[in-house]
Amino acid sequence: MVSLQTVRSNNVSLKELGPGLVAVFVGGTSGIGESTAREFVRHTLSPRVYLVGRNETQASKIIEELRSLNPDGKVSFIKSDVSLLRSVDEACEDIKKREERVNLLFMSCGFLSTKGRDETPEGLDKKLNVHYYSRMRFIYNLLPQLTAASSTSTTNNRPLSRVVSVLGAGQEGSLDLSDLALKHNYSMRTCAAHAITMNSLMTHELASQNPGTSFIHAYPGVVKTGVLRELGPLARFGTEVFSVLAKPFMVPLEESGERHLYAATSQAFIPNETADKSAAAVGSDGVKGSGGYLLHWNGDTVGKQDILRKYREEGVGKTVWQHTLDVFQKPLDALAPIPPVPGPSLLLDRLQEELALVPIELDGELDTDAPREDVVEPVAEDAADVDGEDVVVTTALLAEEAAVAAVGLHVAQMNTLKPRPSQREQMESLVGGLLR
Ligand SMILES: NC(=O)c1ccc[n+]([C@@H]2O[C@H](COP(=O)([O-])OP(=O)(O)OC[C@H]3O[C@@H](n4cnc5c(N)ncnc54)[C@H](OP(=O)(O)O)[C@@H]3O)[C@@H](O)[C@H]2O)c1
Repeated sequence: MVSLQTVRSNNVSLKELGPGLVAVFVGGTSGIGESTAREFVRHTLSPRVYLVGRNETQASKIIEELRSLNPDGKVSFIKSDVSLLRSVDEACEDIKKREERVNLLFMSCGFLSTKGRDETPEGLDKKLNVHYYSRMRFIYNLLPQLTAASSTSTTNNRPLSRVVSVLGAGQEGSLDLSDLALKHNYSMRTCAAHAITMNSLMTHELASQNPGTSFIHAYPGVVKTGVLRELGPLARFGTEVFSVLAKPFMVPLEESGERHLYAATSQAFIPNETADKSAAAVGSDGVKGSGGYLLHWNGDTVGKQDILRKYREEGVGKTVWQHTLDVFQKPLDALAPIPPVPGPSLLLDRLQEELALVPIELDGELDTDAPREDVVEPVAEDAADVDGEDVVVTTALLAEEAAVAAVGLHVAQMNTLKPRPSQREQMESLVGGLLR
């Protein structure tokens, strides 16, 4: 674990890089992106910062605060819905008009949802796009600016050219190579596995192609942010309960920002071309200083090497990058047909798939033969008292949202939080209770 003292002494040294560093925070209007942008502005001289997101009101508040934190800095907002690649392109064009180089591209855009495949007019799933394709499109578009930064010396002759993608390093899973975009085999689990594993594979692939830039995929730990805002009330409640149980293990938001700034600037994560690798961390390919890194919340390197090694040996990184370029080459204005929404049996399949992660009795019934409207319209209404507030949910929603609580438990286990048996029982009875 990298100590907070090491993190902080790295961060205070950033002024030595001299004035005028340029950073783009995609997802800088909330949570980890906002917190990292704040630390960046606090610790650099006359930075130029771009916050990319949809929420203009929130962006204005942050900009005002950051201006008072560092009056020599310049912080701008670029309004963009990055669930669309064409919107990513517009945001990049805007940045390219204003900047010849970009020292840091920090991407933490994301959201949690229990929806099934949610196809955008460009034919991609919204969540997979925000967590993977759009991030790659930012990199692809801004590579000339990142490369320019890699050859521009800073005051102490330490160029900074870095890409950080915040998602789930270390939680890689199997890829369906015949359906990388998950047009046919979509579930919450496959979406997470594809987004995370493709992000991890790309650190190595892009670092090899671009030796002057470091590529990092980070897992932030459990951090209290706005990430739950797109969940329904009951799922939010389930995850809030999980947060209470996980509180001793949570990373405070400010510390998360400090640690991500360390990831974004520390000399431990040098690019591939740096000759002196003596102080470098081990890269995602198992080689010291190779320029692509997978980081745990505490700065340690992670990565499921059994999966990643196998994929490296089979050349899967190249396959994924080629697939990504193929997606990018499709005309974006061709409206793809929107597939039918999943029927009740699909909902039930997905629920059971998620519930299989933990041993929980399914104690409610969905009529799998009923038309979808009968399931989505309240078949049976239930009420739960959440913090004194009555939340009315349909059977279908109950089922979906219990799945989220189940996933919460699974995440707790994956994070080796090891909930005590009584806590576990409490969570399980909550999930079971939701289904009754
Ligand atoms: N917090 C955790 O415990 C945790 C744990 C594991 C992984 N993660 C991952 O870490 C990343 C950062 O999460 P966070 O906790 O910082 O979440 P957050 O507070 O909700 O921030 C997410 C950011 O993404 C932006 N965003 C979402 N959808 C967008 C869209 N369509 N277009 C443009 N911007 C969009 C939001 O901006 P606007 O609202 O302005 O659009 C916001 O700035 C996410 O990918 C999340 O899945 C978080």
